[in-house]
Amino acid sequence: MELIFATHNLNKVIEIQNALGAAFKVISLVDLNENQIPESGTTIQENSHLKASYIYHKYHLPCFADDTGLEVFSLNNEPGVHSARYAGTGASEDNIDLLLTNLSDHEDRGAQFKTILTFYDDQSNCHFFEGIVQGNILSSRMGVGGFGYDPIFQPVGFEKTFSQMSLEEKNKISHRGIAITKLLNHIRSK
Ligand code: IMP
Repeated sequence: MELIFATHNLNKVIEIQNALGAAFKVISLVDLNENQIPESGTTIQENSHLKASYIYHKYHLPCFADDTGLEVFSLNNEPGVHSARYAGTGASEDNIDLLLTNLSDHEDRGAQFKTILTFYDDQSNCHFFEGIVQGNILSSRMGVGGFGYDPIFQPVGFEKTFSQMSLEEKNKISHRGIAITKLLNHIRSK
């Protein structure tokens, strides 16, 4: 079965292809020579849906897309849908610096990563799967692995940040890992 993943991120494609196994062929936007789809929505769910919807209605093949935001409770859930370009430059280092500055006066450093995965099946039915992991924002970076806000995000119940975990460790508990597991269970149950 062919399944389009509406992303250019080949790490994410490899991750889900491994999880699905040889019965599925995951096709990415790189394979399809597609440009970046503008994320013009005002919520994580809207952006996830608009990417999946655009690709499904163009190719008429089962298709899914993900969108993620970091919600910091004492900052009214910012950066949220603006996570990728919080500081305006698109650079993770700038985003982290701005977040640490904005949080410097706050005692509550609780936060969560939220992923919404949108799946269009071959009958054109649309399903949403959510993955959330809660944690705390540290006051300085710890670790060098991962990407985005990983160096300052410490999931609840762990001494390490996402940056200090192996990819396998992170995927078991992460927002995206949880949403992908829900999608896989749904596909396998059909
Ligand atoms: P995307 O929707 O997966 O592209 O995520 C949007 C932004 O959220 C990224 O550019 C990162 O800044 C941040 N982000 C998403 N997932 C993660 C993660 O697993 N660790 C750290 N930052 C993340």
